[in-house]
Amino acid sequence: MANVTNREPRSQERWNAVDRYIADHLLTPEETALDAALRASDAAGLPPIAVTPNQGKLLELLARVQGAHTILELGTLGGYSTIWLARALPAGGRLVTLEAEPRYAEVARANIADAGYGDVVELRVGRALETLSQLVAEGAGPFDLIFIDADKANNPGYFEWSLELSRPGTLVVTDNVVRDGLILDPDADDPSGGNATIRGVRAFYEMLAAEPRVSATAIQTVGAKGYDGFALAIVQEEPEPS
Ligand SMILES: C[S@@+](CC[C@H](N)C(=O)[O-])C[C@H]1O[C@@H](n2cnc3c(N)ncnc32)[C@H](O)[C@@H]1O
Repeated sequence: MANVTNREPRSQERWNAVDRYIADHLLTPEETALDAALRASDAAGLPPIAVTPNQGKLLELLARVQGAHTILELGTLGGYSTIWLARALPAGGRLVTLEAEPRYAEVARANIADAGYGDVVELRVGRALETLSQLVAEGAGPFDLIFIDADKANNPGYFEWSLELSRPGTLVVTDNVVRDGLILDPDADDPSGGNATIRGVRAFYEMLAAEPRVSATAIQTVGAKGYDGFALAIVQEEPEPS
């Protein structure tokens, strides 16, 4: 339990405690049981870089608000965010998730099946820039919601492919767009992926700003995963030139 008499709000200890407080109040026992996927991923030696439970629930709620029947995820890891997103799908809905690392994909497949979504989720193993191009070639889109959460250096390419796989109204959610505030410095050395990560995230902002087909914002977040943020972009009809 964080020391609540400590008035320093910018501490990881306090963010962890508040995340626990939110989860204790707002997650149902059934939702908390989804942590089994996190435990299995941990036991299999996967890195602890999944979204938090509160963030997972946010993803589910966004997909429900969106009325998503089709979801595309980039970056599966152990399938934790996949499971949250799959919960939002109506009968007949489908989710395609892309993962580069075969060992992670194997763990994710088991976790997704254990959670009851083995028939709903299609997991494709390979580098996402390649699997995305395959999806486009197959005419797999459009997806109603796209969650970008793979290697950040490739965010610009992921955004381009996401537009190919979207329709007006598609919601594109991108994780880790603040990186402890390091995005302010183009030369910053991110602990995960170094300078290429920061450059990828910054280039992604430039693309969002220049792309007339999206309306976007980003929100800074703190919590059990530190200080970071989500970007939300909605695809719209390209405005008529005035
Ligand atoms: C932050 S983790 C995803 C976490 C997951 N979305 C969750 O919240 O449960 C990023 C994942 O992207 C995968 N990844 C990295 N580079 C990739 C690439 N080029 N193509 C596809 N996946 C990649 C990593 O192996 C890792 O599993």
